[in-house]
Amino acid sequence: MKKLFVRKSLSSIFEEVENNHHGLKKNLNAWHLTLLGVGGVIGAGIFVITGTAAALHAGPSLVISFILSAIGCALAGLCYAEFASMIPIAGSAYTYGYATMGEFIAWIIGWDLILEYLFGSATVAVGWSGYVVSFLKDVGLPLPEIISQSPFTFDAQGWHHTGALINFPAVFIVGLMTTLLVVGIKESARFNNVIVLIKVAVILLFIGFGVSHIKMEHWTPFIPQNTGTWGHFGWSGILTGAGVIFFAYIGFDAVSTTSQEAKNPKRDMPIGILASLGVCTVLYICVSLVLTGIVDYHNLNVPAPIALAIDTAGPALMWLRPFVKIGAIAGLSSVVLVLLLGQSRVFYSMAHDGLLWKSFAKTHPKFKTPHITTIVTGSFAALFAGLFPIGLLGELVSIGTLLAFVIVCIGIIILRKTEPDVPRSFKTPLVPVVPILGALVCLLQMASLPKDTWIRLIAWMLIGFTIYFTYGRKHSKIRKAAALREKE
Ligand code: ALA
Repeated sequence: MKKLFVRKSLSSIFEEVENNHHGLKKNLNAWHLTLLGVGGVIGAGIFVITGTAAALHAGPSLVISFILSAIGCALAGLCYAEFASMIPIAGSAYTYGYATMGEFIAWIIGWDLILEYLFGSATVAVGWSGYVVSFLKDVGLPLPEIISQSPFTFDAQGWHHTGALINFPAVFIVGLMTTLLVVGIKESARFNNVIVLIKVAVILLFIGFGVSHIKMEHWTPFIPQNTGTWGHFGWSGILTGAGVIFFAYIGFDAVSTTSQEAKNPKRDMPIGILASLGVCTVLYICVSLVLTGIVDYHNLNVPAPIALAIDTAGPALMWLRPFVKIGAIAGLSSVVLVLLLGQSRVFYSMAHDGLLWKSFAKTHPKFKTPHITTIVTGSFAALFAGLFPIGLLGELVSIGTLLAFVIVCIGIIILRKTEPDVPRSFKTPLVPVVPILGALVCLLQMASLPKDTWIRLIAWMLIGFTIYFTYGRKHSKIRKAAALREKE
């Protein structure tokens, strides 16, 4: 039992980093890291989900939902920043868990992060496909539904076959981003930088030109009265809205998976994590205000709410329409990229510790990227993206991310007790208040997710336990070392 919770000592982690046992290239600075964060965050959440959250849950007060959700993320982000400034290794929350709560909890986080990164990239790829299909239709090149839709849908009655064969555009974008990630971290970061500039520019154009089209009557009342059903407007609607648009913030933590590829992780990781979260929060607040100011929130339950706002504003903003679609297509592609990047680095670290197959820890001799884990990750993401609908994947992504946040918050409290003297270039303020509040807020958001999502989370974890007890436990390097020490 004790061995189940064997911890990876910080000294062994520091030694691995010092000797660069991993062979990854150190190419990223604070600017790259911040842009990676923004690249991984701004995507389907703001371009797709915002409209539904306003129309069904919060109305104009969606901006309060965005602020509440940002507070939850900031509390967790502050904990991530301390860990990342202290443990500069690729596995993010997985490695933090290994150093604080032991192998079994680390396994749980590593397995859980698959939900965030792998399923997250598949979800956003499906969103990307939706925008591409609509853009191609606008320019007179419609794609046949049989190759551009999910073959399966899921509702209260169960699974249905839609008649389509595969969501090919979703598979295509995953394939393209996987190839880029194999070719190099620098190339991937460069691509991400360009994309982030495009999507942020498009969002700023929307805010800047949209502001003069806001109609005060659309903001009155600012918090629509609750209809009598929990989550349907009023304050409960704001809370539910916060849970729904939490998806929009997912991705800032992926920055911490690239610690080993950062030039100066101790200083730059906290900057990358917190600055990207800050930039996205400000943009989201402005977009949600302009959006609900231009369109009556009752009409916002559409898959492309920002495009609808432009149509509603009339001819004056028509020129912006193609830019918004291009911004969304570009923007969603960098989210796919960053989430695939995060997943491959977590698998890589787990394999390096012996918990997954050795080949996952190999790096390409020329590109210096973990090519095998990247290709395996990309293949699974492409499979899910090609077959399943966005809603089913999205809720699993949120619950998985929230669970990782909870464990990271608790980890900070433990690490302050077990390793009080290890230098930290960034310290979470007001410990234990901030981590406790962070964990509570995330647990509350988890509790608000549907029962089915919980059942899927538990089923997912049971699969993970099976792999751990049949493979990981037997091959764990830390356990082997601990067993050797005991013999001596
Ligand atoms: N935050 C990312 C998005 O909204 C996952 O697409």
